[in-house]
Amino acid sequence: MSGAGASEAAVGYARGQGKRFVEELKELLRIPSVSTAPEHVGDVRKAAEFVADGLRAAGMENVRLIETKTATHDGHPLVYADWLHAEASAEGKPKPTVLLYGHYDVQPAEPLDEWKSPPFEPTERDGNIYARGAVDDKGQMWMHVKALESLMRADGKLPVNVRVIVEGEEEVGGEGIAAFVREHGDQLKAEAALVSDTEMFAPELPTLCVGLRGMIYTELEARGAATDLHSGMYGGAAPNPFVALAQMIAKLKGEDGKIAIPGFYDGIEEPTKAELAAWKSLPFDEEEYRKHEVGSTELTGEAKYSVLERTWSRPTMDVHGMPGGFVGVGAKTVIPAKATAKISFRLVPGMKPEETFAKYKKFVEGICPKGIQVKVTLIHSGEPIVVSTDNAYVHAATEAMAEVFGKETVFVRGGGSIPIVGDFVRELGIPTVMMGFGLPDDNLHAPNEKFHLANFHRGIESIVRFLDKVGAGA
Ligand code: BES
Ligand code: MN
Ligand code: MN
Repeated sequence: MSGAGASEAAVGYARGQGKRFVEELKELLRIPSVSTAPEHVGDVRKAAEFVADGLRAAGMENVRLIETKTATHDGHPLVYADWLHAEASAEGKPKPTVLLYGHYDVQPAEPLDEWKSPPFEPTERDGNIYARGAVDDKGQMWMHVKALESLMRADGKLPVNVRVIVEGEEEVGGEGIAAFVREHGDQLKAEAALVSDTEMFAPELPTLCVGLRGMIYTELEARGAATDLHSGMYGGAAPNPFVALAQMIAKLKGEDGKIAIPGFYDGIEEPTKAELAAWKSLPFDEEEYRKHEVGSTELTGEAKYSVLERTWSRPTMDVHGMPGGFVGVGAKTVIPAKATAKISFRLVPGMKPEETFAKYKKFVEGICPKGIQVKVTLIHSGEPIVVSTDNAYVHAATEAMAEVFGKETVFVRGGGSIPIVGDFVRELGIPTVMMGFGLPDDNLHAPNEKFHLANFHRGIESIVRFLDKVGAGA
């Protein structure tokens, strides 16, 4: 294997520099790049610049920010870099190009009083680094940057051609990068993509994620009276938009977990028998999951499906918040004129976001209580995806992780969504490897998000070895 020496030297470099890598990550984590919050646009850009500087320092070329724009608004910038000088093999075969993807934006940190240390003051405790974005996805994206730096410093070159694209609006649907891939896909031309934005199934268990759910994120806006009303003077006669939303939401999903929208499940593709059998053999204890991951008294959902099926291969619906009315301390007797519900659906292969949205909209408009006008808006959407596992890139990833973890890789799906992965596969037509190093208890999107530092370092090493193996044609 021609590149093996280079990867040992790069791993050595990464181990020597590990402490500095973590300090740099902390700097990035101090930037509150919350993509959904207008007051943070400047911070989001600062994070993009930080990533660009990191790529330059790693020895990458053509580093630049790419501005994004959609029909309705300016987006957050993409960060692009490449290095396309990998030497052809002895037989004159050119080296493949790998596209590395990550995102530098983060979810909002609220509720702030639940954090043991402030979300944008990264703090080390028990071998973890706590901060918003620690694992999703700044920490994992930084592993890519540091793997590139390690290979460059150890060997003066990379074992493969590399392009890097890092987005700043994954957490708000990734419209900007989707448009860029559609319009300028040639600028991302590669033979495969590597994404580190998923989880390991369990500690110490190397994992490839081979499927993601899609989603539609929507808002229902219900309007009743022309203005807010005194609830004593008008209660009993005036329509209440919150009650109307509650009634509609209750009709969307039954207590058995089944979505009541006509045609909602049409065309769904079931996982293969082999995939289901593989899921059965994963180390999963439902009671442990209920108690320690979910922390509820019961698990809910479709009883005839296992928890892994319910979260990986079945669609579902959730309500995220209901802005409107009075939410201050104490009491205010008001019938609000309007109320909103933020509602999303997770989609699985066989479902199309636009079609699901159309069925949902029609259903909601049909069940809207009298006296209420409901407006159904699509905020963003993403397609579900299942990637192929039978290609050289997946093999390189499992071999790389076997060297680092000393264990065989498990294949799982993720219940979450990364909208651009579907576009890599469908628009760019390239196999995509989702090699992620988060842990089930890393608190993604929640207070006290963390990244297990051992996995940060093992991630860098795995990526170094992966690129080396791809370069060696393994
Ligand atoms: N990294 C996650 C997605 C993820 C998490 C996949 C765990 C697999 C396992 C990503 O940053 C995310 O949170 N995506 C959003 C997408 C949405 C806002 C379009 C999600 O899933 O809610
Ligand atoms: Mn993510
Ligand atoms: Mn996320």
